[in-house]
Amino acid sequence: MNKNYFLGSVNVDYLQLSYSYDFNKVNIIMKKALVFGITGQDGSYLAEFLLKKKYKVHGVKRKSSSFNTSRVDHIYEKNNKNFFLHYGDLTDSLSVNSLINLIKPDEIYNLAAQSHVAVSFKIPNYTANVDAIGCLNILEAIKSSRMIKKIKFYQAGTSEMFGKVLESPQTEKTPFYPRSPYGVSKAFSYWMTKNYRESYNMFASNGILFNHESPRRGETFVTRKITIGLSKIKLGLQKKLVLGNIYSKRDWGHAKDYVEAQWLILQTKKPDDFVIATKKQFSVKYFINLVAKELKMKIFWRGKGLNEKGYDENNRVIIECSKKYFRPSEVDALLGNPAKAKKILNWKPKISIKELVKEMVEIDYRKFLNDKKK
Ligand code: NAP
Ligand code: GDD
Repeated sequence: MNKNYFLGSVNVDYLQLSYSYDFNKVNIIMKKALVFGITGQDGSYLAEFLLKKKYKVHGVKRKSSSFNTSRVDHIYEKNNKNFFLHYGDLTDSLSVNSLINLIKPDEIYNLAAQSHVAVSFKIPNYTANVDAIGCLNILEAIKSSRMIKKIKFYQAGTSEMFGKVLESPQTEKTPFYPRSPYGVSKAFSYWMTKNYRESYNMFASNGILFNHESPRRGETFVTRKITIGLSKIKLGLQKKLVLGNIYSKRDWGHAKDYVEAQWLILQTKKPDDFVIATKKQFSVKYFINLVAKELKMKIFWRGKGLNEKGYDENNRVIIECSKKYFRPSEVDALLGNPAKAKKILNWKPKISIKELVKEMVEIDYRKFLNDKKK
């Protein structure tokens, strides 16, 4: 008779461990997470978070013509015993299947996406292949594996699904009205995740995350474009920052707080969907002013609409708006209510927008100062 009895999982002060009992000996087996999108902003913070929780972390990276692992290289060097990178691509269902069957993860996080809203209008077909069909590829792979009962699945949903918002603040009950190929593709994945949960009894949950930023944010998203642009202007490395709609409003949090929520979403008893947000809303213009303040720069605003410009103390234009950065259909204002996450996950954001701006500015300014000195 086999003396090993699998006893399931226990929750020890958030440290989730699977264990097997061998009469006198308890073997602690580390949980395994498989993260699609490990090289992105969230993937890198989630990897750090899971390693601290004693997971073995397997990440999927794409083949690219230049290095794309800069956000996780430091982890690889420090924790190489528990951190593994594999080649794969969400659009390649064979690679998704074989990775899942090879790794046999306890948890899968689908953070992989063509995540730029404006770019999704230029490459809608590609965006749908990655952001919609890619999620379906994972769900099908889990379903056809022998691990449908074991694997917990997290899908990175987005406030962009609310788009032209039908109520404010937005909750889990607010109907979707996506406004871009990105938002529509993510809505498909949201519904597929819910459908597989209801059809096959899978542990599959959606996070509906509002904008979250960090010093690791992609450089073409507005917050990072502003922290980089103004740092360079302050250092005399750039003359002007050209932006799109500076009146749009977002609910901005810090990526570190949001990856914790992603993990908590998979630690609940029952799979479910959660809005993750700060319930605070600011305009892009307000964000610019916060960054300028942090850099001790003065910006004087003059004009209205597309003609509104930001001037420095010497009356030089340092910020202007261009139609080039407007989207064919805009999402004007997003504001999330994370009450359900607070109640069920005991989650709330810890890092304020001012602290976020301070950290982003410090890192970007220092980087360009060092570059200048070289
Ligand atoms: P990100 O920095 O753009 O990272 C996207 C990741 O997906 C990168 O690792 C990228 O790899 C990978 N990827 C892209 N196409 C892929 C493919 N075909 N196969 C496999 N991997 C692929 O995004 P993020 O800000 O970390 O966001 C993480 C997820 O949350 C995304 O799904 C995003 O849509 C969603 N989300 C983000 C926010 C936010 O405010 N940040 C809010 C709501 C939802 P490369 O490094 O090779 O490009
Ligand atoms: N990127 C960008 N560049 N956005 C600009 C610019 C600019 O020069 N000027 C103004 N904006 C405005 C956009 O029109 C938008 O209203 C707002 O700034 C935020 O734009 P992004 O930072 O590109 O983010 P996003 O809100 O479109 O999308 C991000 O958040 C979503 C969650 O709501 C992405 O991370 C998505 O992947 C994510 O799902």
